[in-house]
Amino acid sequence: MLLIFPGLDFFATTVLGLEDVTAREIEELTGTEALRDVAKVIFHGRPVDAARVNYASRCCNRVFILLVRKSVGGLEDIEKAAKEVEYSEFINDDQSFAVRSERHGSHPFTSMDISAAVGRSVIESFRASRGVRLRVDLKNPDVELFALLRGSEFILGLNTTGRSLHHRFYRVYHHRAGLSAVIAASMLRLSEWSPSESILDPFCGSGTIPIEAGLMGLKIAPGLEFMDMAMHRLKIFSKDELEKVRKSLRASEERWKELRIFGSDASLRSIEGALMNVRAAGLEGRVRLMQGDVTQIDKWLNMSIDKIVTNPPFGVRMSLRHAEEFYTSVFKAISRAAPGVEVTFLTNKPVVVRKAMDNAGWQLYDSRKIIYGTLEVSLVRAKA
Ligand SMILES: C[S@@+](CC[C@H](N)C(=O)[O-])C[C@H]1O[C@@H](n2cnc3c(N)ncnc32)[C@H](O)[C@@H]1O
Repeated sequence: MLLIFPGLDFFATTVLGLEDVTAREIEELTGTEALRDVAKVIFHGRPVDAARVNYASRCCNRVFILLVRKSVGGLEDIEKAAKEVEYSEFINDDQSFAVRSERHGSHPFTSMDISAAVGRSVIESFRASRGVRLRVDLKNPDVELFALLRGSEFILGLNTTGRSLHHRFYRVYHHRAGLSAVIAASMLRLSEWSPSESILDPFCGSGTIPIEAGLMGLKIAPGLEFMDMAMHRLKIFSKDELEKVRKSLRASEERWKELRIFGSDASLRSIEGALMNVRAAGLEGRVRLMQGDVTQIDKWLNMSIDKIVTNPPFGVRMSLRHAEEFYTSVFKAISRAAPGVEVTFLTNKPVVVRKAMDNAGWQLYDSRKIIYGTLEVSLVRAKA
């Protein structure tokens, strides 16, 4: 049963198209209802709930305290709405702040204008209640506010995370086409992989998907390594409470669990880099890596695989005919190596992929659009 606590409203940002996956994760972590919004999820809770999400979420980018959410007509409305907030509940007299802004839609002003208007409001509101002029520090602020204008909807949030959570602690090797860990974790959730099943990413690059599976399988909270999160500088998060959340997350780890997680890639350089990341994640021996060409996978795969979750190359410079041939040969080889395996993958060529799936006799389960950086891509689920 979902419980509603009196407390604060929060919103967590995520990838556009994956809001439902993120909402389910937040509900599991906090026990409170989470509502889907555009590229974000809104939930109600206490600071410890937000702390749990910051430390343990795999699908969120950042978590904010929701200070304002209203429809506005222009910059004046934004300034007025921002002035009504009692900032001294969250910010100390001696702390510095900055406002970052994002704007979607067409407006006769820029996001820098929004930052300046909100910044003025914060200073005035704080001076009115505390008699102190808050310091602005755009480079390294103690507290960061986030102003988001989407059409006429204005949202003002206070960042409790700091740097986006998709930056994982284990990324010591960076692949040129490395996948966001938030997308990787969301794909794993959508694939319905269970840690008792074997899983392979045959285009593993730097290992993001297998490593996320390993952390998920052993219930290791990815944010626990980050001790410089913004919430550590906010007075509403008590140090004792944060320590309790960290202890309870550490206590629920299942590091003893047997896993069958595999990653492979045609490039030796990628496999060497993936191994560095696997080691940094503390998953050496738990996530196993191999070098191999997927189009020949039936010749070298010697274990049974229940799920494949993968991010093949987008082939930006590939012609459509060449792309159809490539996908067809990959899908046929997978069908020979692991008949009936459930496959979850990303593609920027959904039409070509549908043809290749028909050529290989694959059955489509599900397809959704997500925004990956600035690209619109399809997240596809199919059965070989
Ligand atoms: C988009 S990248 C994967 C990035 C990865 N998800 C990560 O986070 O680092 C695609 C990978 O597919 C590999 N690749 C391309 N063609 C391949 C093939 N025929 N067989 C196996 N791997 C291949 C490339 O070497 C590259 O590392």
